[in-house]
Amino acid sequence: MSQYTEEIQKRRTFAIISHPDAGKTTLTEKLLLYGGAVHEAGSVKARKSARHATSDWMAMEQERGISISTSVMHFEWAGCEMNLLDTPGHNDFSEDTYRTLAAADSAIMLIDAVKGVEPQTIKLFKVCRMRGIPIVTFINKMDREGRDPLELLSEIEDVLGIPTSPATWPVGQGKNFVGVYDRWNKRLLKFERAAGGSNRVPIVEGSLDDPALKSEIGQRAYDDLKDGLELLDGAGSDFDRDAFLSGQMSPVFFGSALTNFGVEPFLDSFIGLAPAPRNRLTEAGDVVAPDDEAFSGFVFKIQANMDPRHRDRIAFFRICSGRFERGMQATLQRTNAKMTLSKSLMFMAQERSNVDEAFAGDIVGLWDSGQLHIGDTLYTGKAVRYEGIPRFSPEHFVRVVLRDPLKRKQLKKGLDELSEEGAVQVFYDLERMERDPILGAVGRLQFDVVQNRLQNEYNVNVSFDALPYQHARWIDGSLDPAEISRRSGTLCLRDIEDRLIVLFSSEWMMQRIIDDYRDKPVTFIAAVQPGRKV
Ligand code: G4P
Repeated sequence: MSQYTEEIQKRRTFAIISHPDAGKTTLTEKLLLYGGAVHEAGSVKARKSARHATSDWMAMEQERGISISTSVMHFEWAGCEMNLLDTPGHNDFSEDTYRTLAAADSAIMLIDAVKGVEPQTIKLFKVCRMRGIPIVTFINKMDREGRDPLELLSEIEDVLGIPTSPATWPVGQGKNFVGVYDRWNKRLLKFERAAGGSNRVPIVEGSLDDPALKSEIGQRAYDDLKDGLELLDGAGSDFDRDAFLSGQMSPVFFGSALTNFGVEPFLDSFIGLAPAPRNRLTEAGDVVAPDDEAFSGFVFKIQANMDPRHRDRIAFFRICSGRFERGMQATLQRTNAKMTLSKSLMFMAQERSNVDEAFAGDIVGLWDSGQLHIGDTLYTGKAVRYEGIPRFSPEHFVRVVLRDPLKRKQLKKGLDELSEEGAVQVFYDLERMERDPILGAVGRLQFDVVQNRLQNEYNVNVSFDALPYQHARWIDGSLDPAEISRRSGTLCLRDIEDRLIVLFSSEWMMQRIIDDYRDKPVTFIAAVQPGRKV
């Protein structure tokens, strides 16, 4: 216990993971609306359409003031300080999405009741699992004719490999959707369709044995519900908090974000379930408690500033322990330099404001003139270093074509800096050395960003030739690049830290080659830590 314990216990720092169109924007909006952080339905949505209406980078620049503040959204709920981290989905899926999860203490996995588990759900789930992040599932769009709830649960269990425990259970679905039964509080929450879906839905509560309730939902729905609940009770899907906290079980809630149904009771349960900031491990394996007196944390994302004349940028910093105070001094672990944290921001849903004080779990934006890198640790007191944020293997590749060969030096500088900032990954051919670099990205939009930023910030005009590769693995062990280059559909490159990486034209090809090397001292690696060998 320390003087900070009470503050820290109130914090919930979480992200929503989902496949595009599952309803993340809609759910986010409802959470912010209930938390009083926005006052109008439609404000998050409007921003999303503005962002997606174009992939033109200059338009995105103008939007940037907004997207900076949407990266973290702070709101309050029932005495808790909620920090919702935005993990962009859709076209702007990028490495940022992965990195953001490093700063989250828990995640809401949003699933479309009609579509079930989708590809991006799987990707993001795997990252959460790798990090042991507890996941609460919300099955959305119950107002539509969807899949059978039991079938959805078994899909989650089979595809994602995580046991589920339904906290609520739907009564009917689609046009027959009448509500959910709250298994934990033994009450039925009845759904009332609200016009427009912008207001809170009145909840009618009642116990299962209440005859009035039975007559209200109808005998058939009542019988179905009883059968469903008996089945669940018999299936031994009891909630196990420890398993949940270690990312080994997910409680499941059903609802409909669009019609506001189930969102409020979900939020009430979520603050009880989602952990406050917990101990974090340093790279050396030491434990840092969130309420330690000494301040520490790490940078998980860097966003370039809007003004191309300045290379100022904002580093998103997750506090892991102690108290942040504006103007404080901290040590940058990587260089041992002392930094004064004087310009710092806190993010509300629609604005950003100066922050004077913050605690473990909070995200502050630090103005940075280029000193900070992704994964950097800042601390006061005893030196600590948090584990770096991995770079994930890209899935899209292009070769850079430099229009003006005299600009080679500027191109190198630009790519070095953009890669440091985490905007893109840069690779070089083994033979061609530093000529015609190859860029790799997790999402294609990253290339547009890089092209525009090279033009605007470094005055370098480039175009890209798409390369026919879809996967990449870093290589650990003794692999002769010439040997693997002879296989069709592969390309061997070096990253800017001189690690060997192989690109593959298809997953099938990659799997085949990995199988061929099964008995050899070679490992194919999907994510690496910056500054370290593979
Ligand atoms: P995303 O951020 O995950 O991509 O999803 P978003 O919230 O934008 O929702 C995708 C679509 O699904 C939207 O419809 C939205 O209205 C709808 N939706 C979200 N939650 C629910 C729900 O609980 N029930 C139903 N029936 N639909 C839901 P759209 O037609 O693409 O957009 P719009 O015209 O409604 O803006």
